[in-house]
Amino acid sequence: MRTICSALDVGTSKVCALLAECGEDHAPTILGYGLAPCTGLRKGVVVNIEATVEAIRAATAEAERGAGVHFGPTVVGVAGAHIRGLNSHGIVAVRGGEVGTRDVERVIEAARAVAIPLDRQVLHALPQQFAVDDQEGVRDPLGMAGVRLEARIHIVTAAQSYGQNLMKCCERANLPPVELMYEALASADAALFPEERELGVALIDIGGGTTDIIVFLNGAVMHTAVVPIGGNHLTSDIAAGLRTPLAEAERLKINHGIATNLIVGRDEIVQVPGVGGRDPRAIGRHLLGEIIEPRMEEIFSMAQREIVRSGVADSLGSGVVLVGGTSLLEGTQELAERIFNLPVRRGLPLNPRDMPEPLMKPMYTTAAGLLMRAARQKASAHSNGRGGRWGWLRTRVGDWMREFF
Ligand SMILES: Nc1ncnc2c1ncn2[C@@H]1O[C@H](COP(=O)(O)OP(=O)(O)OP(=O)(O)O)[C@@H](O)[C@H]1O
Ligand SMILES: [Mg+2]
Repeated sequence: MRTICSALDVGTSKVCALLAECGEDHAPTILGYGLAPCTGLRKGVVVNIEATVEAIRAATAEAERGAGVHFGPTVVGVAGAHIRGLNSHGIVAVRGGEVGTRDVERVIEAARAVAIPLDRQVLHALPQQFAVDDQEGVRDPLGMAGVRLEARIHIVTAAQSYGQNLMKCCERANLPPVELMYEALASADAALFPEERELGVALIDIGGGTTDIIVFLNGAVMHTAVVPIGGNHLTSDIAAGLRTPLAEAERLKINHGIATNLIVGRDEIVQVPGVGGRDPRAIGRHLLGEIIEPRMEEIFSMAQREIVRSGVADSLGSGVVLVGGTSLLEGTQELAERIFNLPVRRGLPLNPRDMPEPLMKPMYTTAAGLLMRAARQKASAHSNGRGGRWGWLRTRVGDWMREFF
């Protein structure tokens, strides 16, 4: 029987739907994809249910046409300034002198048991490291001898109502039950190499409405944050600064925009169409840079503040990886290197391995990572069916380890 897995990235600018088949090795092979512009979100959260449902319907229908199969349980991305990340810590006594799956479950539960307001839901509880008695920095404590087990975890929470609205949109678009995943965590799955997560890396996803940040060190998530500014702000800055319609401002940004004036000659000229029948004007391209650069600096400075908050800013051996549509802006890498004082590269959806050519762009890393998660879920559901009474538990603990280290 074919195992189908699916993912949906509901972004501020577009919806991207992916349908795939999970093979023997549980790696997803994409069967179909769909893209639709979306106007129902602002700064990463749903503000217009009808428009969002329409975009989800259009993207999923296109994917189903291409794949010839229907959407099943789907992993859906969530972002927005309501996302919060916090570190927590739990301790339990080890039963029977040797750490078992049950002890690992209990210690994660203990670490999760922090006071989370009723209006928030936990999206992820990501283990950072364990300690068995006095031995710190343990990644996989299963089978170790000891009497005390400690866990450090990173918890990502979202506002209940925002998550519910997104799920409501999916339901109305006739998607079966969905699971929510923080978008930057998904992007990281698609775009980062395991060595980068080990050495320390900050992934910054600059989308249309939000900039999502996630920081890794020693293979574990250390910090997550969302800054409510993205590429759409650049477009409105250009529209206001050059007195041109938003659609023209978007076109100017994509075709001629530059993140920093350091990379443009003073004599480059671009044409700006006028508003309300006025004649087009010719302007120096550096003027675009003068409008865009302060906003990009603002985005990167806010991201920098979050990286400092992670407490591991000095240990990011692999520097910064930029994804999201706005990372395509010319000069973004140069500006980011100047602000972060770290090596910067642009990320692509490298996982799954067979992304269709049109999706091999930094704005599709989120959808790709959501699909990787969906495939892992299928794999663990599959093995949950085997392994006897405790099989499911072993698989679940194994999943945590595999997923985050
Ligand atoms: N070549 C380009 N140069 C500059 N900006 C670009 C380019 N291509 C796309 N963008 C911008 O990227 C943004 C969309 O990026 P992306 O698709 O990653 O966002 P999203 O996932 O829909 O939104 P979000 O993640 O914020 O909810 C838009 O603001 C768009 O103008
Ligand atoms: Mg996005």
